[in-house]
Amino acid sequence: MNLIKVKDYNEASKVAFDIMLPHLKANQVLGLATGSTPLGLYQLMVEDFKENNRDYSEIISFNLDEYVGLDPKHRESYYSFMNRNLFQYVNFKESHLPSGIGDLDNNCLEYEKLLNQHTIDIQILGIGSDGHIGFNEPGTSFDSLTHVIELTQQTRGDNSRFFKDLNEEVPTHAITMGIASIMKAKEILLIATGENKAEALKMMIEGEINEACPASILQKHDNVTIVYDEKAGKLLGGNMKEVNTNEFLEETKEGLCLVDFSATWCGPCKMMAPILEELSNEISDVKFLKVDVDENNELAAKYGVMSIPCVYLLKDGEVKGSFVGLQPKETVKNFIESHR
Ligand code: F6R
Repeated sequence: MNLIKVKDYNEASKVAFDIMLPHLKANQVLGLATGSTPLGLYQLMVEDFKENNRDYSEIISFNLDEYVGLDPKHRESYYSFMNRNLFQYVNFKESHLPSGIGDLDNNCLEYEKLLNQHTIDIQILGIGSDGHIGFNEPGTSFDSLTHVIELTQQTRGDNSRFFKDLNEEVPTHAITMGIASIMKAKEILLIATGENKAEALKMMIEGEINEACPASILQKHDNVTIVYDEKAGKLLGGNMKEVNTNEFLEETKEGLCLVDFSATWCGPCKMMAPILEELSNEISDVKFLKVDVDENNELAAKYGVMSIPCVYLLKDGEVKGSFVGLQPKETVKNFIESHR
């Protein structure tokens, strides 16, 4: 999995657009998603279409899913969503969505048949707070093709925000591309932002590959990129990197680096480490480095490290500030912000 951590939703949309860009050309087949996640990406696609006269007339799209029982004209049908946010602006050759009305068994077969006549070049995915992709809820078979599914209470609760103004209930069922259908895409781009995605993201990236977390199957895809923001990534293992003297000199040449000078035998260092690990997940534009003072004593001496843990903030190799001893997370955060 190629993991790209960004600051926030806007940055995630920009990075996603850059990944999408090479696919916005003739003969590409795009797999599209709905919901809040891809809105920023679609806005950038619309802006780019207008500004750069990009031509979609030889591009085909397939959507992941649709609610069962909603008329396509209903404001919250995914058909309406796609028209409102993308299709009314750009000139796709063909755009397909599964239909959630009529003979559903037949709709599933027909959609899968149509999918099989193409290969999706890039599939955009969001992730449900329960780990679903498409509307493949926990427990869905990894072998599933397009099918009808009952939405979990969690998903219906999450999506109730779209139906509140209408005083309507979220539909109970959806028709969705299956997990096997999604996995056939040549490339997958999943975007996850916001705190309510943190648990799902952790299960998907660090958990076992298990049908209890449908998104975990993506660990087996050989071309998948996950773009996530600081809030969604807050439960992931830290981004601290242990470096030796040479690596330290290389890493600190450019950019902002927080360096933790510490030792394995030092109690306060052990307590400081998880605080810095946590911060390394929350602050994406600072490199978090750890230097073992026993193994790199000349470097430690050069920086005047007398007591440990001793933390330095460096910008392009120059010291911006330092502190000694165990500090609470908020203090370290303020230290970074005030010395940037
Ligand atoms: C939408 C879809 C769903 C959403 C997921 C996240 O077509 O297939 O998997 O991507 O429910 O929804 P948002 O983006 O609204 O948080």
